[in-house]
Amino acid sequence: MAAGAAAGAWVLVFSLWGAVVGDRNVTARIGKPLVLNCRGAPKKPPQQLEWKLNTGRTEAWKVLSPQGGPWDSVARVLSNGSLLLPAVGIQDEGTFRCQAKSRNGKETRSTYQVRVYQIPGKPEIVDPASELMAGVPNKVGTCLSKGGYPAGTLNWHLDGKPLIPDGKGVSVQEETRRHPETGLFTLQSELMVTPARGGAPHPTFSCSFSPGLPRRQALHTTPIQLSVWEPVPLEVQLVVEPEGGTVAPGGTVTLTCETPAQSSLQIHWIKDGVPLPLTPNPVLLLSEVRPQDQGTYSCVATHPSHGPQESRAVSVHIIETEEGPTAGSLEGQGLGTVALALGILGGLGMAALLIGAIIWQRQRRQGEERKAPENQEEEEEEREELNQSEEPEAAEGSAAGP
Ligand SMILES: *[C@@H]1O[C@H](CO)[C@@H](O)[C@H](O)[C@H]1NC(C)=O
Ligand SMILES: *[C@@H]1O[C@H](CO)[C@@H](O)[C@H](O)[C@H]1NC(C)=O
Repeated sequence: MAAGAAAGAWVLVFSLWGAVVGDRNVTARIGKPLVLNCRGAPKKPPQQLEWKLNTGRTEAWKVLSPQGGPWDSVARVLSNGSLLLPAVGIQDEGTFRCQAKSRNGKETRSTYQVRVYQIPGKPEIVDPASELMAGVPNKVGTCLSKGGYPAGTLNWHLDGKPLIPDGKGVSVQEETRRHPETGLFTLQSELMVTPARGGAPHPTFSCSFSPGLPRRQALHTTPIQLSVWEPVPLEVQLVVEPEGGTVAPGGTVTLTCETPAQSSLQIHWIKDGVPLPLTPNPVLLLSEVRPQDQGTYSCVATHPSHGPQESRAVSVHIIETEEGPTAGSLEGQGLGTVALALGILGGLGMAALLIGAIIWQRQRRQGEERKAPENQEEEEEEREELNQSEEPEAAEGSAAGP
């Protein structure tokens, strides 16, 4: 009875000892051999030991036969009592246990928690940005890690310090894929940042892969250094030539959209609120202006990361000419000719009138002496006319005035 109790106590002690001391975490690289020692077992046969395992390959505990068999390619017991796994795989993750009795009958239990890992290739930043713009979200690049196990994590760094996603100025979009055959992971992390205006002009970004197992080194990408572009508020000026936008029918109006010199800008045109279906161009030339060209014009400058910016609106209108609607069909040059001809005709008429008047006056002076006074009334009228075209005499000038 006492002996039985003592034996029970010893079993408890041994099992506790085994649980505490014998439990070990083992990590093994995928594809490499792994040796697990059976502690307490004699180094040479005859031995009393039993290896059993519970892994991804087994449904429950599986006892390995010391004689070997179909499991030899996965795990086999060596002559010194240790267990050899020639090439560990993801399916070998699990628990391995050995129970051994020494020559003097002491029992030892060793338990191993086996985890496997694979070191991925050096992570890299694909599709890196060429420059960033302050004040707006920019895609920095995508960090890519291929062929790791377990998955691990990707972390971004700015100037060597961890960059913590806050959903505002810094955000990452992550994706994890697993190879259907090898079971290895591909991770990617796309970084978006909004650089502060007036911040560091040349930030350096890097990315690191942190393995999913403790005490394993992180892997770092080659850093990338980017320039931050400080946007000046985009000022879009619309210059119209001729000034005022007024043009004769058939004339030419040139609208020029002036922006800070930036090659990435696209200029579109809007007439009366409707975009014009033209290829982007900073100059809009309206030649041989027709009535339907009249309207309100503005230009819109679009930058890939700015959004559109519209200029002030200018109106283009055709001069109303005095000749009436028929003049609208005449060309500018024709109009000029008509005006000139009219001017010349007018001048000639005036000259003819003057000459005629002078001749008439002379004739009248000569005739006053000869002619009868019944023509008096007619003469008065004609004199008045004459006086208007010559220097007005005091009395008649005031009579003709208002
Ligand atoms: C083994 O790993 C588990 C979790 O993975 C941990 O809780 C335990 O403390 C580890 N044991 C030892 C002996 O390191
Ligand atoms: C048993 O043999 C293997 C391979 O020869 C060796 O790696 C291992 O350390 C040995 N185990 C012990 C307990 O000496």
